[in-house]
Formats: sequence, structure tokens, C-alpha cells
Amino acid sequence: VTQPDLVVVGSGFFGLTLAERCAAELDLKVLILERRPHIGGNAYSEFDAETGIEVHKYGTHLFHTSNERVWEYVNRFTAFTNYQHKVFGKFKGQVYSLPMNLALINSFFGKSHTPDEARALIAEQASEISTEDAKNLEEKAISLIGRPLYEAFIKGYTAKQWQTDPTELSAEIITRLPVRYNFDNRYFNDKYEGLPVDGYTAWLQRMADHPNIEVRLNVDFLDPEVNAEFKGKVPIVYTGPVDEYFGNSEGRLSWRTVDLEQEILPVDDYQGTGVVNANDPEVPFTRELEFRHLHPEREASYTKGKTLVVREYSRFAEADDEPYYPINTAEDREKLLKYRDLANKEPMVLFGGRLGTYKYLDMHMAIASALSMYDNKVKPHFADGAEFK
Ligand code: FDA
Repeated sequence: VTQPDLVVVGSGFFGLTLAERCAAELDLKVLILERRPHIGGNAYSEFDAETGIEVHKYGTHLFHTSNERVWEYVNRFTAFTNYQHKVFGKFKGQVYSLPMNLALINSFFGKSHTPDEARALIAEQASEISTEDAKNLEEKAISLIGRPLYEAFIKGYTAKQWQTDPTELSAEIITRLPVRYNFDNRYFNDKYEGLPVDGYTAWLQRMADHPNIEVRLNVDFLDPEVNAEFKGKVPIVYTGPVDEYFGNSEGRLSWRTVDLEQEILPVDDYQGTGVVNANDPEVPFTRELEFRHLHPEREASYTKGKTLVVREYSRFAEADDEPYYPINTAEDREKLLKYRDLANKEPMVLFGGRLGTYKYLDMHMAIASALSMYDNKVKPHFADGAEFK
């Protein structure tokens, strides 16, 4: 590509979707700038050489959606397995089936309950505090599911996730704590669910694989030289952090990050499933991931006698950390309004994706949001001369 028609900053699902649509449908020359040494944003994965296991480098990524358009679109680039996600949680030497359901209630209270008996039990335990009176996350959770379940399955996990005692977290963080009064333990309720048959990176690469798309890795758009080359000269879709774009002029938006500690263990199978939450407060990590279980259909290709485990440690993100989950305090929301104002005034730049909008987006949401920016803003500009706004 010599002179691009459009520059896309960031090669995550948002940037790739937008670039692919512009290249394929509008025949535009698209230049993607990516500051990491690989494409794909946080969905990027690699096959570990020692074990043959696909590792999601930025934490487990499970694809699920009920959006027909997104499902049709993603199937152009990859086939999906029939994997269905299940999560378990360890507490005081026992393993329970999550989300909270009848299996968990029965094993936790050591007795079988009919759905109605379980409902009555939880309602009675939750009556300790009324939801309207709850002044913090702990009280809110107790008012929804009662103290025993709160103390086992919410308290320690939440404290680790936020590095804050739940009595000091806002009640607003949780609106519902769904309990299923049946044995359904599927984690997601969406119509479609699965994992890309030959891995995330193959999928992501196919999206970028178009003669009209050029990807430049290890290039930071905020590098003054790069910035000077493109800013104001060509339409730009920016999917990096919105605060960074404006030099943090309104202050930094706060994020949580996750440290991932990877270990190869000398066993075929460490925990028998993909994800086990660590609910005990004294265990320092929040969960353990064993990636082989996401692709049981690949068992024959894995090295015998070895497995790969990743432990996640959650903490507040400092300036150089990967921003993972928006914390979204009242202060953050105020700053965000100011950044949105600045973003709206920025000529020839559209802000998108989870970093550009400071929103947690699942993959299907990032793709849906990119398709809608394409329909409503980008295509009208290139096809009908509408303002790039
Ligand atoms: P994404 O962050 O992927 O991409 C942005 C890209 O822009 C990055 O590659 C970055 O390097 C680049 N960039 C930033 N600034 C730049 C600059 N100045 N110059 C050049 N490049 C720049 N979703 C889901 O559906 N199921 C799941 O199970 C999970 N699990 C999950 C776990 C964890 C720990 C996280 C953090 C996220 C998930 N997700 C998820 C969400 C998923 O990762 C998310 O939907 C996509 O990453 C969103 O894609 P974006 O393109 O918006 O951002």
C-alpha cells in the first residue's frame, strides 16, 4: 500500500473487522498500525512448542454470541468447535460447579434440595438484609443470596479481583447474582458458542489477509513521527486507549490488569477442566486455566506427560500495564465525558473498540460495534461523501 485511504490503529477484533469491511466491500487501501509485535489484540494466541497446547496469551477467550449477523460474519473466517464453557470453583478443599446452581447448593449445604426447597432456603438466608438498605457490595450480595453463599463464593474472589475488601466496594458493582434452581452449568446462555477450530491467530490472520490491507507491527501511532505522517491527512479509526490519545490531559482512566503466570507441569491432566476459580481468600491467584481442556479434539497432538497451566493474579493497572477491565469509578465516568467531548471534536478520527471507548466488550460485541461503525459512519463517508464523524 503506498497511500492508504484509511488508517486503522490497533489490530484487535474491532480494528480488523473495520479494516476487512473497508478493504473487501469498498475496495479501500487500508493501513493497520499495531504497536505490539503481533496482530489480534487481546484475542491473540500461540501454540506452545513444548506441549502443543494453544495458549491464549492475554487470558482465556471463549467465543459466544446470539447476534446472527456477527455469527454469519465470523464464520467467513473460521469454523468453530462445539466447545461449551463450564467453570468450577474451589473452596476449602472442595470443588463446586458454577454458576451457582442446584448442584452447588446441594453439595455446599450437604443435602439434596428440590428447586423449591433451595429457593426457600436462599430466600430465608437473604432476608438478613434488604436490598434497598445495602450500603456496599458485601451487604448487597448478602441481600441477594445470603451470607453462607456470599462468604464462600463471592467474598474472597471479589476481594482478590478488586484488591479491595467488599465492604469498601460500591453496591452498584452488582445488580444481580443469578442462582439457577436447576443443574444447568453452562456458563454462557448465548445461541452460538465455540472455539476457532485452528486457533484464534489463524482466524485473526485470515481477517487481515486481503491484498488491500497492509499491517505494520511494532508501530505506535502515538509516536510523534508516525503521528505526524498520518494525523489530519487521512481518515483514522483509532482503537487504542482514549486517554493516551489526548496525552492523559484529563487524567488517566483506571483499569484492572491481570498478571498471568504460566507453568508446565509433568502430568497429563492437572485439573480435569479448563477453568477453576480459587475462592479461598488465602490463595493469591483468582483462577487457574488449563488450556488443553478447551480443545479436547486435539488431545492426540499434545505431548504426553505434560500440561500447561496459567494462574491469574488481578490488580490495579499502573501506567505500563496492559489495561484489561475498566474500573469505572464516578471519577472515571467524569473524565470519560471530557474525553468523549475531545474525541467528538477531533477531525478525521473515529474512536472505537474497548480501549477507545473505555468499555468492557466481549469479542462478539467488539465485532458488532465495528460493523455498526462501518455501516453508520465509515461507509457513508467513503461511498456517499458524508463527513467522517
Ligand atoms: P484489543 O485490545 O483486542 O485491541 C486493541 C489493539 O490496539 C491492541 O493490539 C493494541 O496493541 C493496539 N494499540 C493500542 N494503542 C495503540 C497505538 N497507539 N498504536 C498502535 N496500536 C495500538 N471476550 C470474549 O468474547 N470472550 C472471552 O472469554 C474474553 N476473555 C477476555 C479475557 C481478558 C483477560 C480480557 C482482557 C478480555 C477478554 N475478552 C473476551 C474481550 C476481548 O479481548 C475483546 O473483546 C477484544 O479484545 C476487543 O477488541 P478490540 O479490538 O476492541 O481491543
